[in-house]
Amino acid sequence: SRGAVREASGEIAFAGVPASALAREFGTPLYVVDEADARTRARDIRDAFADAAGRAGTTAKIYYAGKAFLSIEVARWMTEEGLAVDACSGGELAVALAAGVDPDRIGLHGNNKSLAEIDRAVAAGVGAIVIDSAIEIERIAAAAARHGRVQPVRVRVNSGVHAHTHDFLATAHEDQKFGVRLDQAEEFAAAIRSYPELRLLGLHCHIGSQIFGSDGFAESAARLLEAHALLLRGGEVPELNLGGGFGIAYTVADDPTPVPELAESIVAAVAGECARLGIPVPTLAFEPGRSIIGTAGATLYEVGTIKDVLVSVPGESGEAVDLVRKYVSVDGGMSDNVRPALYGADYSVRIASRTSDADPALVRIAGKHCESGDIVVYADYLPGDVEPGDLVAVPATGAYCWSLSSNYNHVGRPAVVAVRDGHARVIVRRETEADLLSRDAAYPGAQP
Ligand code: LLP
Repeated sequence: SRGAVREASGEIAFAGVPASALAREFGTPLYVVDEADARTRARDIRDAFADAAGRAGTTAKIYYAGKAFLSIEVARWMTEEGLAVDACSGGELAVALAAGVDPDRIGLHGNNKSLAEIDRAVAAGVGAIVIDSAIEIERIAAAAARHGRVQPVRVRVNSGVHAHTHDFLATAHEDQKFGVRLDQAEEFAAAIRSYPELRLLGLHCHIGSQIFGSDGFAESAARLLEAHALLLRGGEVPELNLGGGFGIAYTVADDPTPVPELAESIVAAVAGECARLGIPVPTLAFEPGRSIIGTAGATLYEVGTIKDVLVSVPGESGEAVDLVRKYVSVDGGMSDNVRPALYGADYSVRIASRTSDADPALVRIAGKHCESGDIVVYADYLPGDVEPGDLVAVPATGAYCWSLSSNYNHVGRPAVVAVRDGHARVIVRRETEADLLSRDAAYPGAQP
């Protein structure tokens, strides 16, 4: 995060709070979230889309995608920075409501929302529910009728565009669980319009995550707008939601286009396409998660054991090269960051509690779990004198780490601490052994 700096003492401080002070007070592993960083990114993204949309004669609505990381505090930061909140389960909806987010500024997603989730969202008065299959039309209409409301809805479609990092792939047919075919959009719109309890906001599409350029968004928007134009013949279609997916740098090898630049070209592409089709530019909606919270977070670990492992790796011309890889094991791992194991995701590591003049050593940061794939950082360098008791920091763990965390091996989830102006406070507390045991029905102190 922008607030993480190495101080004269040699320690890394997060928004002015030294790593060792955080570890002493809150323990490790520890998720550290830089509040000012998250707020600034939220505001910058909101402003960039607002400016671009303004130039195109429309407005933009930014939903923070809570799946990246959601707590009551974070929902409040986002609300205070003018963002709406995107929830994709009853649990995320409950957090947003507990945070006091105006229900009208909450969107609900999901390819299999339960009847209870739909009922709760409609009863709360959420501003948008994204319809993901035909049966949801009548389910949502029935809930709206029960609660005497008119429920605004979007239809999630597949544009056939898949984007990952810098490339995108466009196909005619999609083989995936989300959304409906673009050529079904009219049918869905007609069905929705047949219910007075429903109001069609427009189409929704999400083309992927960790996307570095704007081309995939532009291609997807062009395909969606063709369908949007057809829907306009049958009534109002005030909005178009292009989803989230803006990428961030996890390591120095990553070079994402800054979101403000993406905003400019995506909105320009939409405006150009609308002009070509002779239709008004709709209100635009986006759902970024990672690009707001990802780089605001870091994880602090304490080093426990170290071993030098002699490995043979392919050299530049294919020949085997022997080298020493230091396996540095930390006190967390795949239970707090499953992304390397799940996606082969790359992270980097820094020594956080001191500096060192020792020559750098090639390290692999391993977790403490009973699984050889339990790696946090596959390859990076730490000072060669790294030793047990040192604190290390893994940057860019703000998104999809806590939210994908588990209790594998009966390890409790780490606390999440927000840092700001030299102060740190817990925003989600650490799970204790007692928390874990209390769910075991045979435990004497079990909570039913
Ligand atoms: N909207 C929809 C409908 C989505 O499915 C997602 C992410 C987002 C918005 C937010 O995308 P973002 O801006 O955060 O990229 N667990 C994976 C990422 C899964 C993303 C799922 N959907 C990871 O850790 O990389």
